[in-house]
Amino acid sequence: MLSFFVVVFTLLHIQSHASRLPERRSHLYPRAPSSNCDVYVVSGQDTKFENYAFTDFRSLSNYSISEPPSVTDADNQGEENITSPYFAQPPFSDQWTIRRGIRNAESDVPMIYSASNAYISKDPSDSSQTYLTLRTTRVQDFQSVVQLVSNPKLLHASMRTRMKILPDGKDGDGVAKGAVVGFFTYEADTQETDIEILTQDPSTTVELSTQPASSDTPGADASVKIPNGKKWTDWVDYRLDWFAGKNVWYMDGEMMYNTTKSVPTVPSNLMFNLWSNGQSFSGKMRVGREVYVAVQWIEIAYNLDGQGQSSNGTSGQTQCSVDSGKTKGSPEVIKNSSAKRSAVSRVLKIANSIVFGLIAWYCI
Ligand SMILES: *[C@@H]1O[C@H](CO)[C@@H](O)[C@H](O)[C@H]1NC(C)=O
Ligand SMILES: *[C@@H]1O[C@H](CO)[C@@H](O)[C@H](O)[C@H]1NC(C)=O
Ligand SMILES: *[C@@H]1O[C@H](CO)[C@@H](O)[C@H](O)[C@H]1NC(C)=O
Ligand SMILES: *[C@@H]1O[C@H](CO)[C@@H](O)[C@H](O)[C@H]1NC(C)=O
Ligand SMILES: *[C@@H]1O[C@H](CO)[C@@H](O)[C@H](O)[C@H]1NC(C)=O
Repeated sequence: MLSFFVVVFTLLHIQSHASRLPERRSHLYPRAPSSNCDVYVVSGQDTKFENYAFTDFRSLSNYSISEPPSVTDADNQGEENITSPYFAQPPFSDQWTIRRGIRNAESDVPMIYSASNAYISKDPSDSSQTYLTLRTTRVQDFQSVVQLVSNPKLLHASMRTRMKILPDGKDGDGVAKGAVVGFFTYEADTQETDIEILTQDPSTTVELSTQPASSDTPGADASVKIPNGKKWTDWVDYRLDWFAGKNVWYMDGEMMYNTTKSVPTVPSNLMFNLWSNGQSFSGKMRVGREVYVAVQWIEIAYNLDGQGQSSNGTSGQTQCSVDSGKTKGSPEVIKNSSAKRSAVSRVLKIANSIVFGLIAWYCI
């Protein structure tokens, strides 16, 4: 009889454990703060995403600092620490890692990744607002660069950021040529899709691509003009949607380009970087020059490997719309569900059946 109680106790334990699973999951991949969304929809297509993250840099006054000392030739290990405890704790650390201590010598100008090139700044045009600053500096021996890498590996996502490029003030309003801002997914050189801004390009032009993009793969890239006469030195919302077999790019909500060519097929990290390797694509930055990027927020609706495979699986769940919400970063409930906890109750039902099955078996 003792073993009977051991079995029942174990099953009850499993049962209570199972009921805690949803909380643990939502801790890892935060849900919209004001709602309990099960799936997220975005404008423009049907794919449903099971995860959502909004990294907001606009109200971080108590973390804002003045610009950290510029990287010098002596800082050639890239081991500078992160510039704020903000980067070491959730929500930021759930989603992002700032690369550092990495040297990429396979370039005309070696690139060294430093965490001192990411910091929270007060917006000089509105002191109640803050943003994330990304910085790249050309010193004599190398280019100090910065890269954020997403912790989750995404398999299909709608990725957005609001940013603008800032000059270093050494040439009036001129932004130093030779830097590249990249907002892209990457797993390998043939599994990559990009939004890239080249500071050697005209200030109205943005490059969109899936890789490989070349004359052998027509339709895998486009050079587009930012809508409404804006430049990349203005605040612009950039959006890259990656679906199974199709990519779509938007700027300020306007569809700019889409393609079915070279669309990535494997789980990939989202990267946000600012770099220059001195080769022809980026160009070479002049020694002593810097380029800055101001970032107000990064928003991602995404699936992980194995998620979002069947649109039927999401019927009866609470759906939220990423794009119709009145407040940026707070997806709006568009379809309620009474079966919200159905996954949990299914697990509980199965566990209960097993318990009662065992009781019945013991009684016989
Ligand atoms: C900054 O403010 C937030 C919320 O207002 C608070 O949670 C956080 O602990 C503060 N951080 C510092 C370094 O003061
Ligand atoms: C790095 O920065 C973090 C957060 O600001 C701080 O807690 C930590 O002590 C620093 N580490 C070193 C080695 O300075
Ligand atoms: C893709 O681009 C074509 C031509 O510009 C446009 O007609 C179509 O609506 C776009 N598709 C999506 C999903 O935006
Ligand atoms: C999804 O649902 C539709 C209609 O209810 C059905 O025809 C289809 O076979 C289902 N697909 C899957 C993969 O279950
Ligand atoms: C969803 O349910 C909540 C609580 O039951 C309710 O307040 C809300 O109005 C519902 N929303 C929709 C879109 O039906």
